[in-house]
Amino acid sequence: MKIITAEFITGAVSSRQYPREILPEFAFAGRSNVGKSSLINSLLNRKKLVKTSSTPGKTQEINFFKINDALMFADLPGYGFAKVPATVQKKWQMMIEQYILMRENLTGVVVIIDIRRNPTQMDLDLTNWLETNGIRYALVATKSDKLSSVETARQKRKIEAAFLREGSEKLLLYSSKNRQGRNELWSCLSKWTATHAGGPKKKGASQTGHSLIMHEP
Ligand code: GTP
Ligand code: MG
Repeated sequence: MKIITAEFITGAVSSRQYPREILPEFAFAGRSNVGKSSLINSLLNRKKLVKTSSTPGKTQEINFFKINDALMFADLPGYGFAKVPATVQKKWQMMIEQYILMRENLTGVVVIIDIRRNPTQMDLDLTNWLETNGIRYALVATKSDKLSSVETARQKRKIEAAFLREGSEKLLLYSSKNRQGRNELWSCLSKWTATHAGGPKKKGASQTGHSLIMHEP
């Protein structure tokens, strides 16, 4: 995918503030500091379009970006950062839930985990909840440049055993540093765009009775 334009549109904490948009949109979710914003920058070939930080909890609202006037990215606030009060944690969780259930042009969610860390209950809660609500997602393990190939293979097996079920997409290895996995992830997003039906949203939490509840480890 050739990136011609990539621009920040707005940050939002509630649905009223979301940009009105019909373009296909991809959301990026994962634990705090896992590398969501860096992954978006690397997908877009931009160094600083999305702010990154070694301090967890940097992204506190949903940040929307428009690419080539053809698609949208939404960088979601990270969850599971132990140092934020439980009330803030809950607020972020609700922000993520509301966004995913209400956003009509949402085409798929990229769930990002750190390849060096074992999957947490919160990651599993998120992917289970996405499945319950019929929302398409891809699981991406980033920071792969930080491990040797032997360690990478070991972690990959562990993560796949924890997350993947029959029929789910395989785990995608990624590095925002050396761009491993970038082409595969773009292929996945393109495939989603091609098969995106659009139109009214899937079942809401109120209909399924399932809220996004993330359990602390
Ligand atoms: P929050 O917004 O706080 O939730 O964090 P985030 O998930 O957006 O993470 P961010 O992209 O800000 O990255 C966190 C730290 O990890 C930064 O210091 C990045 O430079 C580093 N980082 C992110 N991705 C990679 C990667 O693929 N490889 C390496 N080596 N470092 C990475
Ligand atoms: Mg971020």
